[in-house]
Amino acid sequence: MASLVPSLGQLVSDATCLFKKLFNDEAPKIAACAPGRVNLIGDHTDYNQGYVLPMALSLVTVVVGSASSGQEAIIVTASELADEPKKVDLSLPNEGFPSFPGLPHWANYLRGIMHHYRALPLPGFRAVVVSSVPLGSGLSSSASLEVAFYTFLQQLRPDDGDKVAKAIACQQAEHTHAGVPCGIMDQLVSVLGMEGHALLIDCRSLESIPVPLSDPGLVFLITNSNVKHSLASSEYALRRGQCEKAASILGKPSLRDATVNDLEDSHSGHGPTMKISDPSMISKWEDFHYSRVSTYSYCSTLFVFPVPAWHCNKLTLYSLSPSQESRAQLDDVTYRRASHVIGEICRTLKAAESFKNGSFQEFGKIMVESHNSLRDLYEVSCKDLDDLVCAAMEVEGVFGSRMTGGGFGGCTITLLKADAIHRTIQNIQERYSGTPTFYIATPSEGARVLNLS
Ligand code: GLA
Repeated sequence: MASLVPSLGQLVSDATCLFKKLFNDEAPKIAACAPGRVNLIGDHTDYNQGYVLPMALSLVTVVVGSASSGQEAIIVTASELADEPKKVDLSLPNEGFPSFPGLPHWANYLRGIMHHYRALPLPGFRAVVVSSVPLGSGLSSSASLEVAFYTFLQQLRPDDGDKVAKAIACQQAEHTHAGVPCGIMDQLVSVLGMEGHALLIDCRSLESIPVPLSDPGLVFLITNSNVKHSLASSEYALRRGQCEKAASILGKPSLRDATVNDLEDSHSGHGPTMKISDPSMISKWEDFHYSRVSTYSYCSTLFVFPVPAWHCNKLTLYSLSPSQESRAQLDDVTYRRASHVIGEICRTLKAAESFKNGSFQEFGKIMVESHNSLRDLYEVSCKDLDDLVCAAMEVEGVFGSRMTGGGFGGCTITLLKADAIHRTIQNIQERYSGTPTFYIATPSEGARVLNLS
C-alpha cells in the first residue's frame, strides 16, 4: 500500500497546537507552506544549465507563527529527525550582522534564508515548522523548508514578490549555510509548482513550461529505498566540479553548450581528431590518405577521424580548430560525466515531447536510458536503486522507472498504468531486500500563503 500522506489541514492543525503549547496559548497569525518535489527526468543537468522535468508534490513543509515586538527569532521544529535542540533563537540578520551557519544543523536552512532574504531588516517573530516531506529521501525536504520559511517571512516583511529571485535566494541559502552546491531545480519547482502539471524548466533562462499530467489511467509511483549513503553530498560537489572541468576543457560556458561531437573530439582516448562536416568529403579523404587512416566513426552528421597530428599540416582543407590539440584532454571519468549530462539534456526534451504526445512507452524507455546513464556514466546510483528499478520493470503495465534526484540512495520514480499499481508495489516489496515506502506522486501547487481563520 502507498503511504498515507497527512493532509495540509492536519499539518496546519498540528503546527498550530504546538505553537499554542509553546507560546502561552496564543494562536499563530500567519502560515505558509511549500512542497517537496520529484524529478521525472533530467538529473544532474540543472547546474549544467540544462533541462529538468520535476513536479511539486502534495508532501509539504508548513510554517506557522506571528510577529513579535522584540528582536527575537524563535523557531521550533516538530521533526523527530532534526538534531537537538529543536528550539532555536536566531539573531536577526541586518547589514553588518550577517547570519552564519552553526548548530543545530537543521536551523542552517533558516539562518541561510534570513541571510539571503530580499527585504531586510526583518521584524522579530516566533514560528513552528512541521513537514510531511521525509527527510533525506531525495524529495527535497530542504528546498521545501527553505521556500516555506521564505514564504512565511514574506508575510512579515514583503519583498518585491519576484518568484524566480525568491528561488535563487533559497538556492543561495543552501550553498552558503548548508554547504551543498545544488542547482536551481528543487527551489524553483517548490516555488512555481502547478497542480496537475510537471514543469519543463530551462535552467539557463529559468523559464518553465507546464506539462499536463492529467491522464487518469496513469500513475507516477515514488518508491523510497529508505537508504541514504553518507557519500551523497561530497560526491555531489565532486560531480559538479567534474562537469565544470569538462566544460572548461571543451571551451564552453557550460555543458549545456556542448554537443556529442565536441565531446568525441576532446576525448583523450581518441587522440587528435579532425571533423569533416560534409560527408561527401569522405571519399576524397579516403582516396588520398586511406592507408594512413585506421578507423573512423559516424557521430550524428559529423565524421570523426583519429589522425596522426602530422597530417594536419598537409591538409589545409580540413584544418583543425586552433584549440583542438589542447582540448584533447578529457580523461575517461570526466568524459563519462560530460557524456551523461549531454545525453540527459537531450533525453529530457525528448521525454517531455513524448509525454505531451501520449507516447508513454517512449517516455518509459527514455526513463530507463536515463537511469542506466546515471548508473554507468555518472555513477550516482547504488544497488538499492538499481534493484528497485529492476523490480518495477518486471511488472506488466510499467512503462519505465529510474532513480530520481541526487542519487546514492533516496527514491525511484516509476511510470505505470493505474491498474498495475498493486502488483507493482507487491513485486517491489517481494524483490527488494530493504524496506521501501511508496507514494503516489500527485502533481501539486507550489509555495503559498495559508489562511488560518
Ligand atoms: C539535488 C540537487 C538538485 C539537482 C539534483 C540532481 O536534488 O539539489 O539541484 O542537481 O540533485 O538532479
